Amino acid sequence: MMAIMLTEVLVALLVGGLLYFLVQRSRTQVLRTEDGWWGAGAPPDGGEDITIRPFTVSTSAEELEDLYRRIDQTRPVPSLEDSHFTYGFNSQCLHTVLSYWRNGFDWRRQVDRLNQYPHFKTTIEGIDIHYLHVKPKTVPEGSTALPLIMVHGWPGSFYEFYGLIPLLTEPSDPSHLVFEVVCPSIPGYGFSEAPHKKGFDSVCAAHIFHKLMKRLGFQQFYAHGGDWGWLVTTNMAQLEPRSVRGLHVNFAPPSNPGLPITLSIMLGRRFPKLFGFTDLDIERLFPCMEKLVVESIKESGYMHIQATKPDTVGRGLNDSPAGLAAYILEKFSTWTSRDFRDLEDGGLTRKFSLDDLLTNVMIYWTSGCIVSSMRFYKENFGKGLYAPHSKIPVDVPTGFACFPNELMHTPKLWLKQKYRNLVAFTPMARGGHFAAMEEPQLMAEDIQNFTKIVEKHRAV
Ligand SMILES: *[C@@H]1O[C@H](CO)[C@@H](O)[C@H](O)[C@H]1NC(C)=O
Repeated sequence: MMAIMLTEVLVALLVGGLLYFLVQRSRTQVLRTEDGWWGAGAPPDGGEDITIRPFTVSTSAEELEDLYRRIDQTRPVPSLEDSHFTYGFNSQCLHTVLSYWRNGFDWRRQVDRLNQYPHFKTTIEGIDIHYLHVKPKTVPEGSTALPLIMVHGWPGSFYEFYGLIPLLTEPSDPSHLVFEVVCPSIPGYGFSEAPHKKGFDSVCAAHIFHKLMKRLGFQQFYAHGGDWGWLVTTNMAQLEPRSVRGLHVNFAPPSNPGLPITLSIMLGRRFPKLFGFTDLDIERLFPCMEKLVVESIKESGYMHIQATKPDTVGRGLNDSPAGLAAYILEKFSTWTSRDFRDLEDGGLTRKFSLDDLLTNVMIYWTSGCIVSSMRFYKENFGKGLYAPHSKIPVDVPTGFACFPNELMHTPKLWLKQKYRNLVAFTPMARGGHFAAMEEPQLMAEDIQNFTKIVEKHRAV
């Protein structure tokens, strides 16, 4: 008798526990944060200035003269014979880039190109936030444009989206959705003011961008991001899941490897089907272990520097156009294709034009933002590897564009651990880390496809 009762109690406890676990799991967990103040000194009395001010990129003869003088005074260091890009940016290639920058590149024309879209600034939490706001010229009758925030990363800028923006705001196919696009600069990047206080991480940027979207009158919107933009938009989905209708990312390294990911690393090679691994997954995830470890050490030195002492190296880069171009453009070479390290010219102009590459460098140069852009690593890694956001899943509908040359390959199984509502996963035909800039057409298509899926779900 006693034994039966005990069994019943145990079963009841087990069932109850299981139900509790399932309810807990299905509940949306929301990331919490507080308002910050990132301006210099103490916050002023009274409310914040919430005006929105048009902004125009400008330049001057002095700015160009200063730049040319510094390029002329660079002290070349010859690269080792046959070293290509394996010791870092190749000296001969740098010479070519600097010659073009000095004699061919037309910054005034690129400034006009930058100003082809409307720029604005508005003050949030004590710092000026810069953004593009591009509205479609026409919207099909009976429909409205879908708001979409797109967030860049390092060492990129809002300019990475210049090829993508028209494809989303003025799609040529009448069956395509029309977007209204907002591209902010992360504080400390480009024309957004740098935080004056310690601690400004991806969650702080996400909180500020929510305020920006509210200030612009958007209650609900889509979000897209790669590199840091992936983490910032992911944090936006975690902070206010109701405001983010859908999240589209093209980069998503696992932040908190749990049991399924660990098991898949240990056993995935032998039992690929068990983990849903494709041939591409196997090829990207399981080169020999030594190669994987050596590769990641070879390519992550910049990250270690930026996550620890950004202000030291950064000062040199901020004074030297040659140093800055080498530091930034090395990433546009290697992160587009690792094989480019074995080319004399780093393959730089295989996928990008020097005009586009140097425009991105000039955004860092003219705004003097390289040091503050590097600090973002220190702030994000400074909270420890297991920051609160890394433990919280994302419940908003998510789409992932899986580009074959991305730095870190992320199979579907890994994504699903974090993004519990993964509605689209596209193995992309080609492209690397700067996919929005390298393959704007493919990216636009994937954003279209993903958004259509989400909108269809909402309609039923
Ligand atoms: C988008 O969807 C269309 C139609 O289903 C498909 O042909 C195309 O390959 C998709 N493109 C991308 C990049 O997802």
